[in-house]
Amino acid sequence: MTARPSSGLKGVVRAPGDKSMSHRAMILGAMATGVTEVEGLLEGDDVLATARAAEAFGATVERLGQGRWRVTGRGGLTSPAGVIDCGNAGTGVRLLMGAAAGYDLTATFDGDASLRKRPMGRVTDHLERMGARFQWSGAKGLLPATVTGGRLSAIDHVQTVASAQVKSAILLAGLNAEGVTSITEPEKSRDHTERMLTAFGADVDVEERGEGWVIRLKGRQPLTSTPVAVPGDPSSAAFPLAAGLIVPGSEVTVEGVMLNPLRTGLFDTWREMGGDLTISNRRVSGGEVVGDITARHSALNGVVVPESRAASMIDEYPILAATAAFAQGQTVMRGVGEMRVKESDRIRLMVDGLRACGVVVEEEPEGFIVSSGPVPGGATVHTAHDHRIAMSHLVLGLAAQGEVIVDEPEMIATSFPGFVEMMRGLGGSVE
Ligand code: S3P
Repeated sequence: MTARPSSGLKGVVRAPGDKSMSHRAMILGAMATGVTEVEGLLEGDDVLATARAAEAFGATVERLGQGRWRVTGRGGLTSPAGVIDCGNAGTGVRLLMGAAAGYDLTATFDGDASLRKRPMGRVTDHLERMGARFQWSGAKGLLPATVTGGRLSAIDHVQTVASAQVKSAILLAGLNAEGVTSITEPEKSRDHTERMLTAFGADVDVEERGEGWVIRLKGRQPLTSTPVAVPGDPSSAAFPLAAGLIVPGSEVTVEGVMLNPLRTGLFDTWREMGGDLTISNRRVSGGEVVGDITARHSALNGVVVPESRAASMIDEYPILAATAAFAQGQTVMRGVGEMRVKESDRIRLMVDGLRACGVVVEEEPEGFIVSSGPVPGGATVHTAHDHRIAMSHLVLGLAAQGEVIVDEPEMIATSFPGFVEMMRGLGGSVE
């Protein structure tokens, strides 16, 4: 797929549903008793894989219309007949492993080539401490893996990395464990699981502690179905907004973006860089604050991104790096070693991709630094099965001097079906 230099992107678009909340809606809907109606579900490949998994674990899952789904849960998960294929989705597989571990069942999980390389031990080690058993078909800690669940005991876990996936897997297992599961997060990670568990009737206790918090969940709590309205995904909204900031003459509005403060680090950073971002029409929808964000073409300056902000924008560093290429001075991104274990090694892939496009980038073990200068483009970028690497370089290509080509554009559908049409509708040249 090719992005060519464009100008004057204009328009009002709507962000696709939030991926994190969409996975959770499917999983909690399957664990609960009753009918959960979901609105605004992200119909990306990752979430569709979780929807199929919910069905394989015994729920009835129906699509009622665009983004409107109905999950009928039977108050627990049962052994699936075949292998649970989670595709490209780290969130899907890790949360499903946690949920499944709490029930008396056996299930085998697998995924695509990218997911088979990602570390599962960060979740399964803790689930094993709770009493679940894992068998690995190949290397320990890598998919495919078979879990045998049931009869879990609660644990106290102190997070060493601010990972919402690890926290969520333990909480979902803890829901069916004996005793009170506690998770201490020295740094907060996204709290969608805690919020949604509460909405499904579970008693979740959150105690603020310093910069972080302690989350406590009593085991053996039933979940009761409830309607879920999924707001727009800030991680997806980032792409059209980035184009608005770096393509000369642009003004792009994305409506209905979730503004949970644990997800909006990128918007704070862009503002610090001098980005003209305005948020209007703030309202509450589906238990989250949402708003409409307008980005206008801006003269950006490089900044040092505070390391403490990493968790609130961990998926956004690739698109931040693409916009940083157009900023005056250096943009320093450190304390982001977690980027190396996402859908790809995102530090490596961004360094390689930006360099191929003529941008000066320095790589560090846990970070990278993007310098200003011309952005010639004229490159084909290798995306290693990673949707965000592909979209970041396509957006870069709209503002570069020459075209930018990405391989594997089909991966974009994992999180943002309709991305290409949206960018074209705004006036971007993407083919
Ligand atoms: C997610 C948590 C983050 C993020 C991922 C979605 C979630 O991963 O990168 O895209 O929905 O909980 P980690 O928890 O591993 O940081």
